[in-house]
This record gives sequence, structure tokens and C-alpha cells, in this order.
Amino acid sequence: MRIWSIIPLLLSTVTAIDLNITSPDSIYSAAALIADGVMDYYWGKDPGGTIGMFTHPYYWWEAGGALGSMIDYCYYFDNDTYTNTIIEAILYQTGEYNNFMPLNQTTTEGNDDQVFWGIAAIQAAERNFTNPPSNAASWLDLAAATFNTMKNRWDEESCGGGLRWQIFQWNNGYDYKNTVSNAGLFHLGARLLRYTGNDSYYLDWVDRTYDWLLDVKFLDENTWRAYDGAQVVGDCTNMTYYLWSYNLALVVSGSAYMYNYTGEEKWYNRTMGFVSGANVFFDEYGVMYESACMRHHTCQTDQRSFRAYLSRFLALTAVLVPDSRDTINTYFDTTAKAVAQSCVGGYDGHTCGMNWSYSGWDTYYGLGEEMSALEVIQSLMINFGKDTILNMTDGGSSRGDVLSGNTTYKPEAKLLDLDKGDTAGASIITVIIGITIILLGYFVIV
Ligand SMILES: *[C@@H]1O[C@H](CO)[C@@H](O)[C@H](O)[C@H]1NC(C)=O
Ligand SMILES: *[C@@H]1O[C@H](CO)[C@@H](O)[C@H](O)[C@H]1NC(C)=O
Ligand SMILES: *[C@@H]1O[C@H](CO)[C@@H](O)[C@H](O)[C@H]1NC(C)=O
Ligand SMILES: *[C@@H]1O[C@H](CO)[C@@H](O)[C@H](O)[C@H]1NC(C)=O
Ligand SMILES: *[C@@H]1O[C@H](CO)[C@@H](O)[C@H](O)[C@H]1NC(C)=O
Ligand SMILES: *[C@@H]1O[C@H](CO)[C@@H](O)[C@H](O)[C@H]1NC(C)=O
Ligand SMILES: *[C@@H]1O[C@H](CO)[C@@H](O)[C@H](O)[C@H]1NC(C)=O
Ligand SMILES: *[C@@H]1O[C@H](CO)[C@@H](O)[C@H](O)[C@H]1NC(C)=O
Ligand SMILES: *[C@@H]1O[C@H](CO)[C@@H](O)[C@H](O)[C@H]1NC(C)=O
Ligand SMILES: *[C@@H]1O[C@H](CO)[C@@H](O)[C@H](O)[C@H]1NC(C)=O
Ligand SMILES: *[C@@H]1O[C@H](CO)[C@@H](O)[C@H](O)[C@H]1NC(C)=O
Repeated sequence: MRIWSIIPLLLSTVTAIDLNITSPDSIYSAAALIADGVMDYYWGKDPGGTIGMFTHPYYWWEAGGALGSMIDYCYYFDNDTYTNTIIEAILYQTGEYNNFMPLNQTTTEGNDDQVFWGIAAIQAAERNFTNPPSNAASWLDLAAATFNTMKNRWDEESCGGGLRWQIFQWNNGYDYKNTVSNAGLFHLGARLLRYTGNDSYYLDWVDRTYDWLLDVKFLDENTWRAYDGAQVVGDCTNMTYYLWSYNLALVVSGSAYMYNYTGEEKWYNRTMGFVSGANVFFDEYGVMYESACMRHHTCQTDQRSFRAYLSRFLALTAVLVPDSRDTINTYFDTTAKAVAQSCVGGYDGHTCGMNWSYSGWDTYYGLGEEMSALEVIQSLMINFGKDTILNMTDGGSSRGDVLSGNTTYKPEAKLLDLDKGDTAGASIITVIIGITIILLGYFVIV
């Protein structure tokens, strides 16, 4: 612990978050402080910063995640303070084809990175978030275009299908197929299906991605676990068994959208099953935790934000499948109280920590901790009338085309060909220069 970090604790506790989980006003006051904490990391407002990005070391994908957290903040409390900032941030990062592949990211972007921005866009549509200006892409267009480019990467050459983790061959992880990329496609597809009601365009894809996840055993319907993924070599039999909360979160809520839309028992069973499987992310005190890394203090930057998505997607699940609500409320009530007592750190006296079961602030801080705390606390609002998830015909005003974006866009092929071309060109030049030098040498000697 750094010495400055305990000074506020010694000086005062008046700024600490005093949360009464049965009072919407109290929830709002707590969330407002934490939302400001999230936006403290927003880089777009700083001189020399980039619109839509959060400060170092937070990667681009987490910005998409954090903007999603803030869209829900605006919805839950009808608070417009950050609305224009959020709209500007998202529109700046859409890229040429409105599918969240901005040029700055295209050398490192993975399917999982892209989908978290697409999810922010469909969420904006479902929340009837203020629409972008008419000369920009709509929320629905952005979400649909993201889905379209992702589904084009479906790869039957190994593991019987699925998306690879990475989009580009030169990135570590191109040889890996994982749950987050495929569950991301499944989740986004399920939401687009429910929002648009376009069965012919989305239904097959949603079933195909879920069934594939089951076939390769990334999902287990006996234990209701969602594992990390597997190497392409060996056709996805070389598995990595880590359990990350955002994987289960994408699957449980995607299933909940499907149940809400189709009314089918299989989706009901899956939703209820994965809600029970979420218990691996609650510690011995009933408080949400990232079980794969927190005990060993090895959670990396990205992983420290995963509980934000678990919270957001469990809250959606509780609304979409009313039978899951009691269990999810229990998860939230215990966790929210623990979060509030943890948010007593930092200069401001209300920075949130990582281990919420620790008494007080555990000295960890960052965008991930702050987002996670915000999502836990604002999710309590589902019990105070904030429980509508709109579609296109019952109040969602975002309109768009399911064929939006560039449906034939395959950046990997294009960039790789250029790359190979350049490399080949370079070797030919090297060979020609080499031969010239040898020949010149021969003539000089002779
Ligand atoms: C919490 O809020 C509820 C509803 O506003 C109120 O009835 C109750 O007295 C509050 N509890 C405390 C301890 O302030
Ligand atoms: C709206 O949210 C901002 C940011 O958290 C907060 O400062 C402000 O007080 C909120 N507005 C109201 C009316 O509570
Ligand atoms: C891309 O990076 C440049 C240089 O840092 C920056 O000026 C620009 O705003 C960035 N564009 C996006 C979409 O992030
Ligand atoms: C939207 O939801 C309503 C129920 O709230 C339903 O009647 C309607 O069919 C849905 N629209 C679409 C496009 O699925
Ligand atoms: C679904 O989208 C496709 C492609 O745009 C379109 O041809 C079809 O009419 C749509 N179906 C519905 C029910 O909107
Ligand atoms: C499985 O993958 C790991 C890398 O994650 C590798 O070290 C190991 O050799 C692989 N095992 C087999 C049997 O291919
Ligand atoms: C759903 O679960 C119930 C209870 O376990 C079982 O009887 C039923 O067959 C399941 N339905 C489907 C479609 O899996
Ligand atoms: C969090 O803190 C509590 C209380 O100190 C401790 O019992 C628990 O093991 C910690 N949890 C983790 C995951 O480290
Ligand atoms: C579907 O979701 C809505 C929330 O938008 C909820 O009110 C409704 O009860 C759900 N329908 C079913 C069948 O669970
Ligand atoms: C959605 O937003 C539109 C445009 O701002 C507005 O006219 C409409 O009343 C809103 N609908 C709901 C259900 O809030
Ligand atoms: C779609 O992207 C491909 C590259 O993958 C490009 O060749 C094509 O021109 C693009 N189409 C449009 C309409 O921009």
C-alpha cells in the first residue's frame, strides 16, 4: 500500500458510500459517485487524449465495455450528464464500415474486442438511448454491422466451425478458438433477433453458435460451466479450463434473450442452469469475485473488469426470465452491500477496491474495479421499475438495416495478401541485389 492511499482513510470517512439497497435515492447517490470515478479514466476529455479511449493501460475493448456501463447508468437514473460524451465516443470508434474496426485497432483487434463495442450499440438501441445524428450510423446499424463481419469469420476448417479468437493471422491467439468470441457472436445475435424480430436472418446463427460451443465442450450443460477455449491444433481438444465470469455472463444472458423471444423450454433450462452455475463467481460470503485469479492476486487489467459484464448481463437475465430473478437478487443484494463498504479508498475517499469481502478498501483500484462496482450497484434498479428491455416495435426508436455495414468485408484476406506480397517483393529485391554484388565481384576479380 502506498502511503498516500491511507491518508484519506485517516482524515475522514464522510465521503464513504452509505448504501441502503432498498432506497432508490441511496442507490442513485452511490452510483453517481462511482460513475464519476469511471469517467475519471476517460481519455477523450484530456488534452492530447483520443475520443472514445480510456487512459493507459486500458485497452480499446475495455473502453467499449466502460461505455456500455455508462449507457446503463444514463438509463437507470435518467441522467444525461454524460450522454453527449458517450455518443461522441462511440461514433468516433466505428471505423470505415460502421463495424467497430477503426484503423488504429486493426493490427491487434480480436473478435472479442470488437463484440464488446457491438454490444454497447445494441444496448443503446434497447435502452432507447439518444440516437446519433441522422448523418451517422444508427445504434442498430452499428450492432448489425458488427454481427455481419463477425459471422463472416466462421471457420469450418478446424473444430467443426467457430470463430478464432483473433481476426488476424499475425496475432497471438489466431490459433485459438474461444468462448468469449463465439459466445459474443451468440449473445449479439440473440439481442439483434429479439430487437428486430428477423428470424430468417438471425435464428440459425444463434442456434449454430450455441450448438457449436456445446459440441466442442466449451459449455457443459451438466455442470453449467463455460470454459475458456482450446487450441485449433488438435481440433479444439486441447482445452483451457479457466472459468472467467464474462464468458458465463454472455451465455446466460444470450439464453435469456432467446427464452424471452421464443418461449422455448430449452432456453429456459439453459438460462436457469447457467444462473445456478454463476455461483462459482460468488465467494464464501456470497459476494461476487473473479474466482480464477483473485485468490492468487494474479488478475490482469482486462480481468479486473469482468465482473462489470457479469453484473450487467445477470441484471438483463433477471428481467428477461422472471423465474431467475430471486436468485439473481440474492446475488446482488449481498454483493452491493459489500461493494459499498469497499468504496472508501483513494484521494477522493470513495474509490472502490477489488476484493469486496475485505473489510474496507483493499488498496486495489482502476477502471475495471470502478466499472464492476458501478454495474453491481446500478443493477439494483431493476427492482425499482427500471426493467424494460425494448425492441423495435415496443418503444425502441433505433432503426437500421440488418444488412448494414459491408456484409462481404473480410479484412484479414485483404491485409494478409498485401503483407505476403510485400514480403515476397522484398525477398526478390534482396536476391537481385545479392546476385548483382556477386556478379560485380566476379567481374572485378576477373
Ligand atoms: C432504507 O430505505 C428505506 C426505503 O427508503 C427506508 O424505509 C429505510 O428506513 C432505510 N433504512 C435505513 C437504515 O436508513
Ligand atoms: C447526474 O450524474 C452526474 C454524474 O454522476 C452527477 O454528478 C449529477 O449529480 C447527477 N444529476 C442528478 C440530478 O443527480
Ligand atoms: C488514431 O490514432 C491517432 C494518433 O494517436 C489519433 O490522432 C486518432 O484520433 C486515432 N483515431 C481513432 C479512431 O482512435
Ligand atoms: C416486441 O415486444 C412486444 C412485447 O413487448 C411483442 O409484442 C412484439 O412482437 C415484439 N416485437 C418484435 C419485433 O419482436
Ligand atoms: C430480414 O432481413 C432480410 C435481409 O434484409 C430481409 O430480406 C427480410 O425481409 C427480413 N425479414 C423480416 C421479417 O424483417
Ligand atoms: C496444448 O496446448 C498447450 C499450449 O496452450 C501446449 O503447451 C501443449 O503442448 C498442448 N498439448 C497438446 C497435447 O497438444
Ligand atoms: C428442461 O428441464 C426439465 C427439468 O429438468 C426437463 O424435464 C425437460 O426435459 C427439459 N427440457 C428441455 C427441452 O431440455
Ligand atoms: C477477500 O478478503 C477476505 C477478508 O479478508 C478474505 O477472507 C478472502 O479470502 C479474500 N478473497 C480473495 C478472493 O482473496
Ligand atoms: C420478456 O422481457 C420483458 C422485459 O422487457 C419482461 O417484462 C417479460 O416478462 C419477459 N417475458 C417472458 C415471457 O419472460
Ligand atoms: C424513444 O426515443 C424517442 C426519440 O427520442 C422518443 O420519441 C420516444 O418517446 C422514446 N420511447 C420511449 C419508450 O421512451
Ligand atoms: C467491402 O469490403 C471488401 C473488402 O473486404 C471490399 O473489397 C469491398 O469493396 C467493400 N464493399 C463496399 C461496398 O465498400
